[in-house]
Amino acid sequence: MTDLIQKFEKRAAHVVVVGIGYVGLPLVVEFGKAGFRVTGLDKDPEKVRLLNKGESYIGDIPTSELGPLVSSGKVDATTSEDILAKADAVIVCVPTPLNKTKEPDMRFIVDATDAICRHTHPNQVVVLESTTYPGTTREVVVPKLEASGRTVGKDIFVAFSPERVDPGNKVWKTKNTPKVLGGVTPECLKHAQALYQNILDRVVPVSSTDAAEMVKLLENTFRAVNIGLVNEIALMCEKLGLDSWEVIDAAATKPFGFMPFYPGPGLGGHCIPIDPLYLSWRLRALKYTARFIELADDINSNMPAYVVRKTASALNKHKKSVNGSKVLVVGVAYKRDVDDVRESPAIDVISLLRDEGADVSYHDPHVPKLEEHGLTLDGVAAPQWGSYDATVIVTDHKALDIPKIVRESKIVIDTRNATRGITDVPADRIYKL
Ligand SMILES: NC(=O)c1ccc[n+]([C@@H]2O[C@H](COP(=O)([O-])OP(=O)(O)OC[C@H]3O[C@@H](n4cnc5c(N)ncnc54)[C@H](O)[C@@H]3O)[C@@H](O)[C@H]2O)c1
Repeated sequence: MTDLIQKFEKRAAHVVVVGIGYVGLPLVVEFGKAGFRVTGLDKDPEKVRLLNKGESYIGDIPTSELGPLVSSGKVDATTSEDILAKADAVIVCVPTPLNKTKEPDMRFIVDATDAICRHTHPNQVVVLESTTYPGTTREVVVPKLEASGRTVGKDIFVAFSPERVDPGNKVWKTKNTPKVLGGVTPECLKHAQALYQNILDRVVPVSSTDAAEMVKLLENTFRAVNIGLVNEIALMCEKLGLDSWEVIDAAATKPFGFMPFYPGPGLGGHCIPIDPLYLSWRLRALKYTARFIELADDINSNMPAYVVRKTASALNKHKKSVNGSKVLVVGVAYKRDVDDVRESPAIDVISLLRDEGADVSYHDPHVPKLEEHGLTLDGVAAPQWGSYDATVIVTDHKALDIPKIVRESKIVIDTRNATRGITDVPADRIYKL
């Protein structure tokens, strides 16, 4: 057993998590709870300030869990990359967005790797957790580390481990979600495995970093494609005069060979709309067109426009035009019970309705102010539902009183089947996807 592995087993290692957002903060907490000394390194001084006060800024992490770890001196945060010089293990959880032309934006991974290289020393584990295209760890991270004097597999151990955190999920958390892990060499895998198996219930080793990178893209492509399929089923059902929700619910009674996915206003969040495009971009360079991904992206990206068409047609039935109508969008977070608005389809729905001349407001119990993609809006805290010409439910947070919304709104466009079971209002007041 090497000294480094022994350090991990004794939990005497210092772990630095680079990027303490939705993915990084839960990891900081898990390593802290397992008894490691952990520092979160982030460029955002506000996150660093809050963490050092023991205050959580991520819904899934209660302050009651973070606070004691900070006050015990196990966990802290910094904006100074100098801390990397003290790290026995560095875990990189920085963003991997797309640029304007929908291509991978690798700036954050490159910046974080450059910082590690400036402070690297022998006997370190470096794990990339940011979702990215197959080949990134080997082609982007490894050459930089080797250029800085390290020999991967000998005095530095490099791995990739996809993050599977599902914000808002009350059952599957960082600790109990199996963790896939691939090393650049067998020694890299062995060292990274020794690190993670001390804090997580189950580590699933794979043969390479490329395989580990691909696992994540398979998982998220699976979701994007199935959501694309079911969104198209919803479009087909409309043409056929059928209720797509009824059809899906009935199909879901099949105990084998079917897994229900549900239509919606479009994809959102930092993962599902973006990750598959990392894969299709990679394949384009190999002269291969990832047809399922591109088709699903096309269908899913057009769902906000479909919601707006549906709203226009509902208003039309009540002899109103979109132009000049007061429309309330309900729920702007990208999914239920979270406050994350990144890539939320609500942004497109609001922008498209405004383009058509609607006077748009929004209500979201989790998002008091919306600032995204050039859109800045204050939410309506307590809407007078009846004062809007149309209410569009984009995200069905549990905190919303849907029966009240339906009872008091003039018309409701329901993109989530939130109004299921409500039968005591006239049919021309509810329009489902
Ligand atoms: N959010 C999710 O549900 C989720 C789930 C699985 C995987 N992922 C993946 O995990 C990665 C991180 O996502 P996230 O949602 O945690 O992002 P996030 O934006 O919440 O957090 C990323 C943090 O990294 C910091 N940062 C950026 N560059 C930095 C640098 N060079 N040095 C230090 N800090 C830096 C940012 O300030 C930010 O605080 C992405 O690749 C994402 O695709 C996210």
